[in-house]
Amino acid sequence: MSKRYTITAALPYTNGPIHIGHLAGVYVPADIYARYQRLTGNDVAFVCGSDEHGVPITIKAKKEGVSPQDVVDKYHAIIKKSFEDFGITFDNYSRTSAQIHHETASEFFLELYKKGEFIEEVTEQLYDEEAKQFLADRFVIGTCPKCGNEEAYGDQCEKCGTSHNATDLINPKSAITGNAPTLKETKHWFLPLDKHEDFLKEWILKGHKKDWKPNVYGQVKSWIDDGLRPRAVTRDLDWGIPVPVEGGEGKVLYVWFDAPIGYISATKEWAEREGKDWEPYWKDENTKLVHFIGKDNIVFHCIIFPSMLKAEGSYILPDNVPANEFLNLEGNKLSTSKNWAVWLPEYLEDFPDKQDVLRYALTANAPETKDNDFTWKDFQARNNNELVAIFGNFINRVVVLTNKYYNGIVPELSDYSQVDEETLAAVKAYPDVIASSIERYRFREASQELMNLARLGNKYLADEEPWKVIKEDEARTKTIMFVALQIASALATISEPFLPFTSEKLKKILRVALNDNVSSSDSTKENCIENSWEDISTKDILLPAGHQIGKAELLFNKIEDKDIQAQLDKLEASKKANEAANKATEPQKEEITFDDFTKLDLRVGTIIEAEKMPKAKKLLVLKVDTGIDTRTIVSGIAESFTAEEVIGKRVTVLVNLAPRKLRGVESEGMILMTESPEGKLVFVNPDANQDVANGLQIS
Ligand code: MF3
Ligand code: ZN
Repeated sequence: MSKRYTITAALPYTNGPIHIGHLAGVYVPADIYARYQRLTGNDVAFVCGSDEHGVPITIKAKKEGVSPQDVVDKYHAIIKKSFEDFGITFDNYSRTSAQIHHETASEFFLELYKKGEFIEEVTEQLYDEEAKQFLADRFVIGTCPKCGNEEAYGDQCEKCGTSHNATDLINPKSAITGNAPTLKETKHWFLPLDKHEDFLKEWILKGHKKDWKPNVYGQVKSWIDDGLRPRAVTRDLDWGIPVPVEGGEGKVLYVWFDAPIGYISATKEWAEREGKDWEPYWKDENTKLVHFIGKDNIVFHCIIFPSMLKAEGSYILPDNVPANEFLNLEGNKLSTSKNWAVWLPEYLEDFPDKQDVLRYALTANAPETKDNDFTWKDFQARNNNELVAIFGNFINRVVVLTNKYYNGIVPELSDYSQVDEETLAAVKAYPDVIASSIERYRFREASQELMNLARLGNKYLADEEPWKVIKEDEARTKTIMFVALQIASALATISEPFLPFTSEKLKKILRVALNDNVSSSDSTKENCIENSWEDISTKDILLPAGHQIGKAELLFNKIEDKDIQAQLDKLEASKKANEAANKATEPQKEEITFDDFTKLDLRVGTIIEAEKMPKAKKLLVLKVDTGIDTRTIVSGIAESFTAEEVIGKRVTVLVNLAPRKLRGVESEGMILMTESPEGKLVFVNPDANQDVANGLQIS
């Protein structure tokens, strides 16, 4: 029986492109799930969109001197296109600045307002006197009252995941001016979460029984156990959805109030376009609502949004919220601000035909139960050792041999051997095994089972050796190839949720009909076999004798070391560039008098000899002509210069610095240096074109 599914993926903030952390945590698993549900005949609305309100977007706009709308227009286009190119099959990718969303969110707020579901209260909120602005959410940074993280935001601590009110922060500071805020009265609307506590407790417990992930259940439970308090759902900001009630002038809805409603607006927009009714997807008890999110979104999807839906009264609640943990990159936390990330648009540029490789690497190593690390080496290994060596190799051998021996026509089988029968029975078991993993949101496990099916095929061919058998037993060879072709065909269908581009390519090679729900572009349906997910378990023959297949084409290519090194270099370079850009100019030192200055005796000099200090990485021993004398100076510049390089260099020397012994060598002075943004030392040297003799005093 076909079931209705509303599948949502967290709306990404529209202030930067998508990176692998987003993909692994949310979009790849959500897409596997949606594709699988469609493939098994269910009715799916898979929705997402850009989350375009909120403080970070206004901060970015201010920094770049453009409007918030400019920022979201730019990134909405980039994000939407990269999702499409990557093969994420949203039924609708909307945005929260869309009119339909403004209307939907306004109406939702009004409905709760009319039902008396809000508390209206004048409270003291943080205010920046200099910026003349209230500080909420990311406009304020301070110490987390729960874990002591000194860089917690006004609405959430990224370290411990706690979500709080800005006034809860210890030592709050304005993110705009750095000033300590004052308190100023302002009116807001609050959602009394405490009022929903009993319902939440019961509902979460029910969820737990339904096998919610332990990380999700644990976080929600500890939240409820800590006691829930009313949460403001409006803000004193000018970027967002205006508060649609009296007294709401100059205020907007809190971004976390409007964004989840974006799932509903996106469904409405899609239904309108498709001539469908949106309501069953959100209001029919038989619909299964599933939210794919990252762990930092848990409280919003398991406490706040369900309380909103419940208060409104006509909506269903999520059946499950399979939140993932975080993905790290090469041992470090992914960070947009530090530019430590693999960005999807760049990946697609560097590897334009390797969407499936990244999907596979991210799925096989998904941060499902704990944080996980993405490394380019692992990416390469997943490709070379699994996709190429197992999946690709098996398919290639089957297709090449079928063409070579039988001109691409599936041969007649004679009797199955015991191995054949066992192998075919094993193939039939895969759809259920994989389905069960997917239904339990264990995509890692599911992807490994898929690879096991390819392994089974690879091993079958290696054991049966048709290339040897053909020399003595033609009938047996035909049967072997027949069996191998059945496995190849099963792979073509079952791989679709995980490796959609590969599945499509393989179906074209085997002349198997493409999944209608995914691609309708192909008109070569005739001469095509149609196999559904279920058929793999139930049909005895997936590719009948006499069926013509196409020519071999490589499904995957080996990724070379140099390609991986290029990615590692790129990461390192972007990190360095970022460090340089962020390197704060040192604040000015304490004031000194002119007399203090005249104490320094700075002279023009020339380095006349240089050698490395033995067993010291950083030190060069220099002989410098100071015009007064020739003296020894030990200088910590060996990581930036070789000894040969510096001989003859004109330099500025502080000559009256008290001598000091370094590694047993007395150093009589100091050479003035500065540092480039990349960390390379640079001489502060006299203008080489001018005739300035050694010994000239600098004043
Ligand atoms: N933009 C949020 C984030 O990236 C997620 C919003 S999910 C929604 O963390 F439910 F609010 F849409
Ligand atoms: Zn904290």
